[in-house]
Amino acid sequence: MSSDEIRQKYLDFFKKRKHVEISASPLVIDSDPTTLFTSSGMQQLAPYLKGEAHPDGKRLVDIQPSIRMQDLDEVADNRHFSFFEMLGNWSLGDYFKKEQLSWVWEFFTKELELDPARLHVSVFEGNSEVPKDKESFEIWKSIGLPESHIHFYGTDKNWWSRAGTPEKMPVGEIGGPDSELFFEFEKVAHDPKYGKFCHPNCQCGKFLEIGNSVFMQYQKKEDGNLVELPQRNVDFGGGLERMAAAVAGDPDTFRIDLFFGVIKKIESEVGFGYNSDLDKDKSFRIIADHLRTSVNLLSEGVVAGNKLHGYALRRLIRRAMFHFHLLGSGISGGALAHIAEELRKFYPNVDKNWEFIEENLSAEGTRFELALKRGLARLTSAVGRGEEINGQFAFDLYQTEGFPLELTIEILKQNGILFTPEERNAFEGEFEKHKDLSRSSSSGMFKGGLAEASEITTKLHTTTHLLHAGLRQVLGEHIGQKGSHITSERLRFDFSHPQKLSDDEIKKVEDLINLKIRENLPVSSIEMTLPEAVGVGALHFFAEKYGEKVKVYTIGDPEGIWFSKEVCGGPHVTHTGAIGSVKIIKQEKIGAGVVRIYAALG
Ligand code: ALA
Repeated sequence: MSSDEIRQKYLDFFKKRKHVEISASPLVIDSDPTTLFTSSGMQQLAPYLKGEAHPDGKRLVDIQPSIRMQDLDEVADNRHFSFFEMLGNWSLGDYFKKEQLSWVWEFFTKELELDPARLHVSVFEGNSEVPKDKESFEIWKSIGLPESHIHFYGTDKNWWSRAGTPEKMPVGEIGGPDSELFFEFEKVAHDPKYGKFCHPNCQCGKFLEIGNSVFMQYQKKEDGNLVELPQRNVDFGGGLERMAAAVAGDPDTFRIDLFFGVIKKIESEVGFGYNSDLDKDKSFRIIADHLRTSVNLLSEGVVAGNKLHGYALRRLIRRAMFHFHLLGSGISGGALAHIAEELRKFYPNVDKNWEFIEENLSAEGTRFELALKRGLARLTSAVGRGEEINGQFAFDLYQTEGFPLELTIEILKQNGILFTPEERNAFEGEFEKHKDLSRSSSSGMFKGGLAEASEITTKLHTTTHLLHAGLRQVLGEHIGQKGSHITSERLRFDFSHPQKLSDDEIKKVEDLINLKIRENLPVSSIEMTLPEAVGVGALHFFAEKYGEKVKVYTIGDPEGIWFSKEVCGGPHVTHTGAIGSVKIIKQEKIGAGVVRIYAALG
């Protein structure tokens, strides 16, 4: 069964059960200081899981491309990816455990035809705040699972929130107990390489988690306790790649169609086969994974750089190239792009933007390959002269050539030299000092990428729309957004205008926004196509990034008198009154015809 068939079967299955298909969010999130990427299907749905009415109803389904960059080293095993597609279905206060678990079972055993005897499930065992999930246990039994296939685990395994366990959830965050489905691979059931007494959550790879039904019922309160949400939701997510591996009965997810063409091309490039050497397999997987993530990021217009999204992309491309070196062969930027071209047939957006992707992937690859060559020459000659390769040396190499520490360590290892933990600390110390270059996804961000910003950033997000509309009303319709950025302290908004605003204009804009806040206007959204959005007068920005359907946020009455309409992914406050008040704190002219304004909550 191809992965495309699996996608289609999933959508059809839930559409038949009255679910409406919604568009996926873009991978790249650029208005949120707490996260860089979409990392799960529920991210765009957080306000609706909390109780806001979704325009498409209470039953939703989609396929959400997701990025999880928190542990790139995990990719070396055969079932973790930095990019994956999450098949998701939701009940927003509609059906609950009974329907969900029966449908999950039906989908996996009837549609994907997985052998029921190889399926195991897990259920929440309860803690001091939330009771044991006896209901799910009984449902699984009534479906026909033997008790030996139903496993209880605590909050570390059977609780899901974007931040992890209940203790880790920040105030306002939502989560709940979950029930996971695991496939046990018959192929390796008796293979001594795998755990003998293992259980579904063992990490040996005999079992693969292929779906997770989260019962999204709780919210973290200021006092640290959990309270029940006004509605009981289901948030299901299952990884397409893993489902395809289960269907194929092969625990190595890198042998599925989405990867194998790339693996084959890597084989021809390096001149030997995948699955011939355990250590080398890791590099094959890392290259295949990182290239796939890179082309998908490039397809949204990200370019390699030293900050945020660009830095994440640079890291992926460089790691892919470095693993070619570990496989014993350097690779040119052009050859790298040639391998990645294999992915065009699976990802329409990659196909559509191929010229841009090819150009940028080759360019970054070429830059790095040259640097690697220079770095290698410096390192090997220093080793040859018997020089000490310490943390400072490794950092210089990194700083001047972009030569990764991992590669330094690997090359030293090949020469029988150990890079000690003390030297690693010294490297990290230098790295900290040069923070500007290292501002990556890890700094100040939640591990998996928490979509919804804190309350302040949500308020600032809505304020950005108010500001945009306010500027247009006071200064004229020529005002167009050129960029925006939000931190937990302030918003920044760049727009087209020939000169800085006078004090009087600033006051007018500020007064207008604060008036709209006092009017406590409702903020609502509906989905439509981009032409429809333009038709209703919605402002939009970076049009090329949008999917088939876009969300239009209205401040005011969408059908009557409104103040602002904009294409945007959210999240927003539900009423402008929640913002309190706003102050414009600074303005500057940042280029020909572009003015920048900073504003903060008053
Ligand atoms: N939101 C759940 C997850 O990401 C389904 O695993």
